[in-house]
Amino acid sequence: MQSKPGSRLRIGVTRALPDPVVTMLRERHDLWINPEDRVLTPDELQELACRSDALIVTAFDRFNEAAIARLAPSVRIVSTFSVGYEHIDVEAARNRGLAVLYTPDVLSDAVAEMAILLMLGAARRANEGTQLLYARKWGGWTPTQLVGIEVTGRRIGILGMGRIGRTIARRARGFDMAVHYHNRSRLAPDVEDGATYHERIDELMANSDVLVVAAPSTPTTRGAVNAERIALLPKEAIVVNIARGDIIDDDALVAALQAGRVAAAGLDVFNNEPKLDERYLSLANVFLQPHQGSSTMTARVRMGEILRDGIDAVLRGDTPPNRLA
Ligand code: DGY
Repeated sequence: MQSKPGSRLRIGVTRALPDPVVTMLRERHDLWINPEDRVLTPDELQELACRSDALIVTAFDRFNEAAIARLAPSVRIVSTFSVGYEHIDVEAARNRGLAVLYTPDVLSDAVAEMAILLMLGAARRANEGTQLLYARKWGGWTPTQLVGIEVTGRRIGILGMGRIGRTIARRARGFDMAVHYHNRSRLAPDVEDGATYHERIDELMANSDVLVVAAPSTPTTRGAVNAERIALLPKEAIVVNIARGDIIDDDALVAALQAGRVAAAGLDVFNNEPKLDERYLSLANVFLQPHQGSSTMTARVRMGEILRDGIDAVLRGDTPPNRLA
């Protein structure tokens, strides 16, 4: 696909974007941004496609094989404002000659920071501490008040050692944590940086005082953190999820949290967002955030830049590093 240099595309954008991102994209292209800032229905998405040469979508806009087949012929590029791309059938896009772009790397620091926040928030009972204050029930310092878990020197087990997982590992080393991981394949020694590889998820679980889910949602990872595996975690373990809700079996995690089998959880992502499992909201030993991992202005601007540059590269006939199809 090649276009005349400088040619402006009509880009349909399914959700509002931060102002600096809108400004940078408008310098190069004509944007239509969903004024209602809500998830479009499948028909609305197709209608937007009819008026667009390219789309900027989110992980909540589904592009399965049927949706891709229905897309107006004018659409040449689908760019997702996310690192996760489980919502796009990349193979179907490739077959249709559709370029697919995503936002790897640029949000790894922001998401890793969120993983650390969740780990500490869960370990140090931040939810209970906050509630105590806001309920105006704090009676002052006592030696027994909200005694938590110290993560320093413990084992962190990272499920999915991609860019985000490796960034979390670097941060965890700052807490003198021993890094364990499971990944589809073992990393090269220089990238592994002393971390212990576990070929099987079960082995990782048995070695995770803090389990951090950082894997993409795929047929293999969906439901991977299930009752059998949670039972393998050491006593007083903490479970953190910054990846996708569907990797954890909610029934199993809730039961383990209720029984105290898992000491605490820090969760930023959920099954069926935004309608998360209500039981999490009534558990004191969970620290929750509403899918905020990449939500820093630094990351948002970089996400905009990598998509803008990717679109330009596709128009020049080049293959940018963030092209999936
Ligand atoms: C991502 O980039 O995948 C975030 O989770 C937002 O969808």
